[in-house]
Amino acid sequence: PSRLELSGRKVVITAGPTREKIDPVRYITNHSSGKMGYAIAEAAVSAGAEVVLISGPVTINAPAGLKLIKVESAEEMYQAAISEFDHADVVIKTAAVSDYRPKVTSAQKMKKQPGDELLELERTKDILFELGQKKKKQILIGFAAETEQVDEYAQGKLKRKNADLIVANNVTAEGAGFGTDTNIVTFFKKDGSSEKLPLMAKKDVAVKILEEAAILLKDEHE
Ligand code: PMT
Repeated sequence: PSRLELSGRKVVITAGPTREKIDPVRYITNHSSGKMGYAIAEAAVSAGAEVVLISGPVTINAPAGLKLIKVESAEEMYQAAISEFDHADVVIKTAAVSDYRPKVTSAQKMKKQPGDELLELERTKDILFELGQKKKKQILIGFAAETEQVDEYAQGKLKRKNADLIVANNVTAEGAGFGTDTNIVTFFKKDGSSEKLPLMAKKDVAVKILEEAAILLKDEHE
């Protein structure tokens, strides 16, 4: 049993993919199943926290005992995250947010026609970055899903997004990343140190992340 204690704390978690609509039948998305974020939500409930789970479309069931906010697009996820941010103690951004969306969503199913090979895209809001700008007392934890130069990119995200911790995973490694019940993560901390964890069940990774959050909360109040 974990000694993790988060009662009286509000923990906001984002999970799953986003969907950016092209037309009524097509969208841009990614492979996130929601398992990592839902595992964190479940562990936070077990630790006694008040939990808000902001979730993109997934097929797994949400744990009991939390507030579930279902969203679809990056913009909806942003709005939900902002509205829950002020009273949050810890925010964990596990979601795989689409960085791009179609510039125009067609109201009707798009038909093939000559010269239509290019889909025009625009950037979505970087939710983690925006929260990093707004941050006061909140502990902000981001993920980094990488396929190469994991350490370098994760360190970059830690600084650029003003996060307190980045949980990096190489999503091409066996047993890590999207869809699996296990993950292999490295923590990148603000003091410049890092901690590489072995292959673990996502539910155990979840507890490790929340233990880090608890330490950061304690540091903040000393
Ligand atoms: O859901 P599972 O199948 O269990 O898979 C788990 C996971 C692979 C999705 C998870 O472990 C993970 O790595 N999540 C982060 C995915 C991601 O989008 O990483 P990124 O490196 O592109 O983004 C970095 C951080 O910025 C993330 O915290 C992300 O939530 C955030 N972000 C990214 C883009 C954007 N527009 N807004 C954001 O807030």
